[in-house]
Amino acid sequence: TILVLDFGSQTSHLILRRLRSLGVFAELLPCTTKIADLSWKPKGIVFSGGPSSVYDEGSPHVDPAVFELNVPILGICYGCQEIAWRIDQTNVARGEAREYGHADVKIAKVNSNVDRLFAGLGDEISVFMSHFDKLVSLPKGFVIIGATKNSEYAGIAHEEKPIFGVQFHPELEHVRIPKGIIHGTTSDIQIQTPRGSEILRNFSVDICGAQPNWKMGDFVPLEIARIRDLVGDRALVLGAVSGGVDSTVGAALMREAIGDRFKAILIDTGCMRLNECEEVKETLGKHLAIDLTVVEAGELFMSRLADVSDPEKKRKIIGSTFIDLFEKEAIRIEKEAENTPNTGKVEWFLQGTLYPDVIESLSFRGPSATIKTHHNVGGLPERMMNGQGLRLIEPLRLLFKDEVRAIGRQLGIHESLVNRHPFPGPGIAIRILGDVTKERVEIARKADHIFITMIKEAGLYDQISQAFAGLDTNRSVGVFGDQRVWGYIVILRAVRTKDFMSAEVFNFDNSFLMNVSRTICNQVDGVSRVVYDLTSKPPGTIELE
Ligand code: XMP
Repeated sequence: TILVLDFGSQTSHLILRRLRSLGVFAELLPCTTKIADLSWKPKGIVFSGGPSSVYDEGSPHVDPAVFELNVPILGICYGCQEIAWRIDQTNVARGEAREYGHADVKIAKVNSNVDRLFAGLGDEISVFMSHFDKLVSLPKGFVIIGATKNSEYAGIAHEEKPIFGVQFHPELEHVRIPKGIIHGTTSDIQIQTPRGSEILRNFSVDICGAQPNWKMGDFVPLEIARIRDLVGDRALVLGAVSGGVDSTVGAALMREAIGDRFKAILIDTGCMRLNECEEVKETLGKHLAIDLTVVEAGELFMSRLADVSDPEKKRKIIGSTFIDLFEKEAIRIEKEAENTPNTGKVEWFLQGTLYPDVIESLSFRGPSATIKTHHNVGGLPERMMNGQGLRLIEPLRLLFKDEVRAIGRQLGIHESLVNRHPFPGPGIAIRILGDVTKERVEIARKADHIFITMIKEAGLYDQISQAFAGLDTNRSVGVFGDQRVWGYIVILRAVRTKDFMSAEVFNFDNSFLMNVSRTICNQVDGVSRVVYDLTSKPPGTIELE
């Protein structure tokens, strides 16, 4: 395993992704990790980039014990400056201008040991730079292995030890940053270090000696063994299942690991998609042998949501009602277990946390402002975790979304579920602008079903990251035959996104949208108008609320 120490760069997780796609397993930990606390010895360590300046007071620094492990080290951008700063604290300063974008690095040949980070790359490589600070002199014991016009020390290596630094970003192989994300940009920016992977392979495989044999295929048996080890052979694990890919894959892994000591619960909030609860129950039962307990609570949710139009209030009501019901169910299961031989107590709660959330919460600065509290809807309250001593089990914590999908396929979960668009915990309630009633949920649900079915029939589903139909509870006048109707406005939304932090509107053919509009108006009573939302994120969010 390669250890990546995170100094807070937006792209630290990409170092990990690149290494994993090379077959090299890597873990990301905060830069302040104490080496003595590690239960394993890394084969090599990468220091990521970061937004701070090494010479500022309060800037993050690594545990000096990192250098005593005697394993190869690669510093990237801030990470490179950190290596230099550790040595004599004078060799990093602010450049005259920020260097941002493309640069060509001339590779200096020293000897095949010292310059092996760039082995096989020829005389020059094109790289992506983004930095204010730079090295202004060579740290003691180092030589130059690469230079650009603006950065004399774009690549450095220690003459004797396997310590390397690069000012540029090898992890940014092909990245498109949508306009507006970087302040002042009016078009998308394409950035790349096309041979970045080769540099990371030289480091991890050739220099560190890591085996490039990590396959997603290894994940399932390893994780199942880990779960068995953790849970032991009596305890029960509870999990909330939503029908989304994360909770389904998590549930499938638990079922494989501990059989029916895993208890899956689906709370029907009354705000799920059309036929969703039945379909989820059937899929889990048929394909994964999981006996899902569906707690039908639509009426309760509707009564608590009556006359509430504030989005945050809706979320809170749904979250706390969800938890009340979940807690009741846990108590029931606990009681049942008391009478079952060879069964212990409920000790664990399954959570479908993915790696991006882990990275956020591991940040040495603490969770960043970008993390959304709403991602915890469906999580358990402190009183349940601490009060009843439940511990979290997170089998997906090392995976990215596409990796979860790959595991899902490997576990035999049906493609339609694996590729399913995400659906928020509060469901249709946050897709209705205004207060939620049973009638409005029903209308939004039918319109959504028509829209999604037509998208699938047109073969567009997999090109879209998330699509749905919501409802504006203001009403608009229409004519149906000779009749004047005063109906709701259906809002169609479809976006493409990689990370759900920013998104672009999906570009349908107008004729397709007109067809959807016609079908919804014809088939869903109470709708007089259909509109398509053309707002990207930012400034809009993906959901309507
Ligand atoms: P937004 O609307 O913030 O959505 O652009 C980004 C992604 O998060 C999902 N989302 C939620 N998921 N509970 C959830 O479990 C919520 O309250 C919630 N709000 C938004 C949204 O569906 C999209 O995929």
